[in-house]
Amino acid sequence: METLLPKTAKLNNNIQMPFIGLGVYDMYQDQAERAVESALEIGYRLIDTASMYQNEKEIGNALRRSSVKREEIFITTKLNNTDHGFDQALKAFDLSLQKLQLDYIDLYLIHWPIKSGRKESWRAIEKLYAEKRVRAIGVANYTVPFLQELKTYASIIPAVNQIEFTPWLYQKDVLDLCKEQGTQLQSYSPLTRGIKFNDPRLIELCNKYQRSPAQIILNWNIQLGVSSIPKSVKVERLQENFDATNFDLESDDVLLMNSFSEGFRICDDPIQFL
Ligand SMILES: NC(=O)c1ccc[n+]([C@@H]2O[C@H](COP(=O)([O-])OP(=O)(O)OC[C@H]3O[C@@H](n4cnc5c(N)ncnc54)[C@H](OP(=O)(O)O)[C@@H]3O)[C@@H](O)[C@H]2O)c1
Repeated sequence: METLLPKTAKLNNNIQMPFIGLGVYDMYQDQAERAVESALEIGYRLIDTASMYQNEKEIGNALRRSSVKREEIFITTKLNNTDHGFDQALKAFDLSLQKLQLDYIDLYLIHWPIKSGRKESWRAIEKLYAEKRVRAIGVANYTVPFLQELKTYASIIPAVNQIEFTPWLYQKDVLDLCKEQGTQLQSYSPLTRGIKFNDPRLIELCNKYQRSPAQIILNWNIQLGVSSIPKSVKVERLQENFDATNFDLESDDVLLMNSFSEGFRICDDPIQFL
């Protein structure tokens, strides 16, 4: 049976964002350009970069060369930890735009909730949104206390919250709060960088559905209404990850995967910034 899984998520300001995108952390120069070009050829329409990844220029080069129209591609970039504060954030945005060789960004995120400056940075990002220099604004690594704090001063509810989210780090409290307040959750390091691919419970599901570990995990995300941005520089893996929407995990298996949660993390716990 053909899956009814949606390909795009409607954000809280009614714009559409693809459920699966390409994350471009840890790829540089020609390799980054080639990965973006291959991804666009396969059909990816969401690219997730960041000032911190030091490859915005290469992403921009690949976008410029692509025959896919700019308005069909959803570009995310992020405010670096060293650029917090009202004026600094505005300057950092300009620099990202310049490196990406674009005249607008689709989604601009605060990369980490750094204590000193996150409030002023959000004000700057709201200004960028009001000036229509960015189509949607959001945050990353905002777990429940950070989202609650943001609500006390934000005029705009973040359209997206990007967090580490996998079956082994099933952050249900963040997912529930995001759903309640109309913020789209997006999972980073969704594949655990391959570290959990040998989990026997996952392998059993791979056998049952005749799908790869990456496809089972990415499908789990979409079944929960979560977008994800797996990274790969290999064409066959880019294709494999993109094809994760072509089947449906049964709801019992989604629940089973929720129960894998054990607090396993690739990146830092943002709680240190509280
Ligand atoms: N907001 C944040 O703080 C934050 C933090 C971390 C990451 N991110 C974003 O999330 C993106 C993804 O996270 P990530 O790069 O940390 O990790 P990931 O997507 O979980 O895993 C990427 C790793 O898995 C490999 N891989 C990809 N597809 C595979 C497949 N189908 N089978 C086997 N191996 C596969 C890749 O190797 P190859 O490239 O060799 O294929 C790479 O080593 C990043 O690129 C970045 O955009 C955001």
